[in-house]
This record gives sequence, C-alpha cells and structure tokens, in this order.
Amino acid sequence: MKIGEVISASVLGGIEVKLTLNNPEELRVGYPTIVKGKKYDFYCVVQDIYTPKSKVIERIAGIGKEETIPIEAHDSAYGNLFPCMAKLKVIQLINEKGELKEPETIPPYLAEVRLARKEDVEKIYIPNETSLPMGNLRGVSFEVNLDFGKLVEKPFGIFGRTGVGKSILCKIVCNSILAKEVGNVLIFDMHQEYGLFSKTDNTPGLKYFFPERVEVFALDPVANREAKPFFIEQSKITPSDIIIAFQDLSESMIDALYILEREKGSKDLVTTIREAEPEEYEGKIHSSSLLALKRRIERLRRFDFVREGVEDSFTQMLSLIKAGKSIVLDFGKYGLSTTSYLFIANIITRRLYSTYTRQEENLPKLILFLEEAHKFLEPKVAQHTIFNKLARETRKFNLILALVDQRPSRIDEEVRSQLANRLIMSLKEPSDVSAALSGVPDKGTWEGIVSTMPPRNVLAMGDALPIPTVIEVLNYNVANLKRILKNMDSEEIKEIASNIDIFD
Ligand SMILES: Nc1ncnc2c1ncn2[C@@H]1O[C@H](COP(=O)(O)OP(=O)(O)OP(=O)(O)O)[C@@H](O)[C@H]1O
Ligand SMILES: [Mg+2]
Repeated sequence: MKIGEVISASVLGGIEVKLTLNNPEELRVGYPTIVKGKKYDFYCVVQDIYTPKSKVIERIAGIGKEETIPIEAHDSAYGNLFPCMAKLKVIQLINEKGELKEPETIPPYLAEVRLARKEDVEKIYIPNETSLPMGNLRGVSFEVNLDFGKLVEKPFGIFGRTGVGKSILCKIVCNSILAKEVGNVLIFDMHQEYGLFSKTDNTPGLKYFFPERVEVFALDPVANREAKPFFIEQSKITPSDIIIAFQDLSESMIDALYILEREKGSKDLVTTIREAEPEEYEGKIHSSSLLALKRRIERLRRFDFVREGVEDSFTQMLSLIKAGKSIVLDFGKYGLSTTSYLFIANIITRRLYSTYTRQEENLPKLILFLEEAHKFLEPKVAQHTIFNKLARETRKFNLILALVDQRPSRIDEEVRSQLANRLIMSLKEPSDVSAALSGVPDKGTWEGIVSTMPPRNVLAMGDALPIPTVIEVLNYNVANLKRILKNMDSEEIKEIASNIDIFD
C-alpha cells in the first residue's frame, strides 16, 4: 500500500515523507517501509510520524470551524494542504538482483513510499539450519528468523521494563536453542516460570517441550516434589558469595571477610565467622565490622539449602550438564529472597566458571541465563565476582552469559559493550534506553523506537540477524510453539510433539 512520497532525503539524516494516508494513525513507529528508488529499493523503518506546524491550523483550532477545513485532504478537491509527515531511517538498499547494499545514497524526490511486503523482506531475512522464527516483523505478516547458532556464540542481553514479556521471550529463546541443538541452558528460575508450567501464568516451560533434555532442581523441594533437591555444602562458601549475596557490606566488612578466610585454618568460612570473638581479632578487624558480619551470616542459617557434611548437589548438576542436559533451578519460596538468588547464582556460576576454564574435557556449550543481571554487574560488586570476567572471556570457553534485566543502565558499561546481540523490549527510563543501545550506530534513531514500542515487541540487533529489526514476539502458546519447533530435524522432538494431543 502506498503511504506517501519523498520530499527530502539525506544519507546522514534520513528520509522525510509526505504521507498520503488519510489517517496518520494507520502508521506506527518501527514499521518497515520500502522507498522505491530508480535503482534500489530503500528498506527503511519509520522513525517518527508528525504534523508540521501550520499557521492556518493554529488560527482555526478551537473556534468550532474545524469541519470546514479539508484536513483529510485526499478526499477533497483542495489536494493535500495539511499533510502528515513521517521520518524514515534507511536500513538497507536492495538492488534489482535482490542483493543487499549499505545505505550510502538517497532516493530521488517524490519517490513512492509503501509499507514493506513479504516479498521485500524475504530477500533480507534468509533462514538457515540454525535459525527459527521469533515473531512477526512489526507491521508485516512475515516471520523473522533469528540465527540461534550465532546468538549463542557470544554473550547477549535481553532488556525491558517490568511486565513487557522478557520471561516469555527468554522461554522462546531457550526452547529455540534446545530445538536447534546449538547449546544447553541453565536458568536460575526465581519465579517458577521455566520448569513444566509457569506458576505465574501457567504457560508451558522448557520441560514441557523437552522432557528428556531438561532437569529441574529445587532449592525448596517441598514446593516441587518432582524436582531433584538442591543443596550446597557450607564449606564451599567463599567471601565473594557473601559479598554478592548481601550487596551492602562496607569496605571494612569486606576486608574482615578476607582476613577471616585467610585465617580459617581447617574450619569453613561460615563457622569461622560465627565463632570469631572480637578480642581474637583485635587490631586486625574492627569489632563493629565483625559483629555486623556475624549478623549477616546468621541470615544464611535460614536457608535450608545450605548444609554441613553432605555431598552437595553441584556435582550431580555438573554431571548432568556434562551429559548434555539443560538445567532449571527452581527457587520456590526462596524466589522472594534476593539474597538467596544472588548467593546461589554466584556459587554455581563461580564453580561452573572454574570447571569450564580448566577445560579438562570438551564440555557442552552452556548458556547461563541471569535475571536481574545488574545485581551481579553493578560496578560496586562486579570487582568481587567472576561475572565481569565471564562476560568478557567466555567466548573462549563453552560458557555463555545471557543477561536479562530491567535496568541496563546499572550494568557495568564494559560488560554491556561485550554483548554481541541485544534483544531490547520497551524501556521508558531514558538512562536505560541509552544504556541498552550504547555503542550502537545511529543510537538516537533506535532510542526513539525503543521508548515508544508497545509490550511484547522487541528490537533485535546483533550478528544473529542481518539488520536491526523490530519484531512482534510470537504468541507463546502450545500450538504456536509446536508449529515452530516442528521445523526441527530432531527425531526426539517430533516424537514429543506427536505424543501431545493438545498440539493438534
Ligand atoms: N509473547 C507472548 N505471548 C503470550 N503472552 C505474553 C507474551 N509476552 C508476554 N505475555 C504476557 O505478559 C505477561 C508478562 O510477561 P513476562 O512475565 O514475560 O514479563 P517480564 O518482562 O518477564 O516481567 P517481570 O519483569 O515482572 O519479570 C505474561 O504473563 C503473559 O501473560
Ligand atoms: Mg520476568
């Protein structure tokens, strides 16, 4: 459908279009469009829609004569006196052979502009053996494929404010990773969303689609009896686990922790702190810091998953990972405790990191999904953990970090710059929009699009797809997922699908 004509254009500044639509509400920011040049089709996205200021409109507004003015001009004999405009950003040029070129030129005056169609975008998004659809191209009935093989090669981020569909998008990403067999996943499932069914909205989780390939562990086995209980041995706790878990330790408490760690002898760190008397450490540790530390440690006692003298579950989890399983760690009642989440995620990741970096054997690729990532990567705590390193180095190993967060601005800048792909959902806080897009060329254009995008839409950018793209995330339900997963080659999945009758 024709929507307008070019009235001005600039390689750096974008294209200005006079709309021929009677109602500008038919167009939305982020919609893909084609400007018909002589040699090229200019593939663009709508960056802004506006009505220019008009002296006539200013005089007429409010005096009750609005209906006498031919505002919806195309039906009138007056021509289009009061046009609406759109600003387009050129993303790619397509020549007559269907080859893609960089946007280094502009279309002529009055070039026709229309909404993009399936035939236009088919030339851009070409599926391959490791790609699966993530949803429709915004405004076009065309499914955009993301290359999940590429996605899991390097760290990536999923950002968006609360309630816009991050967890559902994560589930689509995880299911697609498993379907394409490009890696396994480990999820710290704070809100019981990823196992068999989500406790929050009852949507199917990973174990629903991949019962044989996903193992669920539970920190709170009473709440999930089908899962394997997960506990850790107290002696495995290090200063960094405690620093991360509490987030609010002062510098002198942190120093005290390291002194106690050095002097613990054959005892474990937790017992050492618990038994330490202020007099014993006079001159080394300030008594108020020691007492504050002791108070914090008492809170750990409330966690039933910390035990003494048992073989901890990490060994079992690791052998399952080595056997090619994906892991969902269900937090149950502990999901409400940020301390327990930070504590457990840090312990597991630290131990995985040391196993993977030792690389004694070829370990299966594991993608670690870290919700509330900023809590691990805030500049203040980042120096005490391996998450920083993990984000920077893991491409060398088979351990890949996927950051999921509502507040990208609070994630260390250096870590953000390592993300090879970003899936950005709606963000409103300008500092978050800016942080989510840091380092992206033409950041300003995308900032406008991200801050006006509705929920369940995502701006996907990075090397897992040919160009930055706004996608309406597919409706996450059994039938839809079945349709997508059916594309898979894996015999196992076909069999699973055929056994589930609600699919058909
Ligand atoms: N693609 C989708 N298909 C179907 N429903 C969706 C989709 N995306 C989001 N929803 C609906 O929106 C709700 C919120 O989505 P979700 O839980 O993924 O948000 P979130 O960004 O993870 O929120 P929070 O920040 O609170 O964790 C879901 O419970 C679901 O009902
Ligand atoms: Mg969520």
